[in-house]
Amino acid sequence: MEKFVVKGLEEGLRGKVCISGSKNAVLPILAACLLTEEPCEIQNAPPLSDVRYMVELLRELGAEVDYDERTERIRVRAVALESIESTYETARKMRASFLVAGALLGRCGQARLSLPGGCQIGSRPVDLHLKGFQLMGVKSMQEHGFVELQAKNLKGNEVYLDFPSVGATENILLAAVLAKGKTVIENAAAEPEICDLADFLREMGAEIEGDGTDTIYINGVKGLHGAVHRIIPDRIEAGTFMAAAAITGGDILLENVREEHLKPVIAKLAECNVKTEMTKEGLRVYRKGKLHPTQLKTMPFPGFPTDMQAPFMSLMAVAKGTSMITETVFENRFIHAGELQRMGAEIKIDSRSAIIEGVDRLTGTRVKATDLRAGAALILSALAAKGETEISDIYHIERGYYKIDEKLRALGADIHRTEESDSNDI
Ligand code: UD1
Repeated sequence: MEKFVVKGLEEGLRGKVCISGSKNAVLPILAACLLTEEPCEIQNAPPLSDVRYMVELLRELGAEVDYDERTERIRVRAVALESIESTYETARKMRASFLVAGALLGRCGQARLSLPGGCQIGSRPVDLHLKGFQLMGVKSMQEHGFVELQAKNLKGNEVYLDFPSVGATENILLAAVLAKGKTVIENAAAEPEICDLADFLREMGAEIEGDGTDTIYINGVKGLHGAVHRIIPDRIEAGTFMAAAAITGGDILLENVREEHLKPVIAKLAECNVKTEMTKEGLRVYRKGKLHPTQLKTMPFPGFPTDMQAPFMSLMAVAKGTSMITETVFENRFIHAGELQRMGAEIKIDSRSAIIEGVDRLTGTRVKATDLRAGAALILSALAAKGETEISDIYHIERGYYKIDEKLRALGADIHRTEESDSNDI
């Protein structure tokens, strides 16, 4: 296994960084390609391990997939599906594999999927996905860790979500586009990735309105055709680089970003004394004075994204004064606090809140990435820490950040990867 070795910087990051396509947008869009037998082409698909797992799953289901990682293009042709089943191995590697459920129901009227199970950040159930499917005439049965879904007549209905779950909204949308009649998803998630999926589905001939709001209207159509689609920029990767500029007191330009997707992050950074400017070339992010403490609460979009919570904890760890984070989206998303404490951060966790007392400087040591965004938070902390930090289990980070080490090095960071020589237990 590989690890990152990061030396703390004395000067801020400087230069340009190009943001990749959104991981969370490309995964449901790949699932959507199963809805037609015509060829689809996805552009700006970041070569990440999660994307490779999804490509593998589409192939297991019988789709022909050509993934050119160099040009970041994926061509999918699902002429005939040979299987309607995802294995435990796939679900274990990537929870988003459950997103093929809606597409398989739309295309084949059935699916047999391994239940995703929990992960470091919480239990991650799929009850809302299943409730939505049931309302659309799907019979579901759970046995031996699998859920079997059968829909003789997939039909539209009104589906009210108890919580605006991103995955449930996507899965119901995927099932509804080929269902008979009209589906209304109320209390739907409004994340930009939902809009990107809806854009792709519309390009395939689907009838969808209201995406980006809390009510989505879908008119089922008889069939969908192929489409070519460019994935939106990854707002979480962008936010992470913005936080990297902030924590190092840098001045960087982010290319390929959508300012409207970054509003909650920009507003919070402003409170922390970090400036942003949208220019013709991209989004400039810089800090001249000291970091200010702040308070934040994670919320569904357009609230502050839970995926940016860990990177912001790193900022707060070195912002003079008291900061507070309340995590409302996931039940157990503070595991990174323990690793940050090993670097000298002063953090107290009380249930879903974290109180952070800023210290002058963190110090480098050996730490472990416990999940994707936690790993990003450790890199940020390491950039601003005194001395050297070794971050193990970086495969978590590579699920969602394309060439993060190369991109940071181009901005002046001292980060490199080496083989892990001994056990991860520290
Ligand atoms: C997606 C993102 C993830 C992000 C999250 C919230 C992908 C591949 N991942 O995950 O990066 O952190 O949105 O913005 O797009 N819940 C239920 N029942 C359900 C579904 C969800 O209780 O059936 C709960 C979850 O346990 C969690 C909350 O709802 O506490 C949010 O989950 P959800 O919005 O579904 O997130 P994901 O789609 O899994």
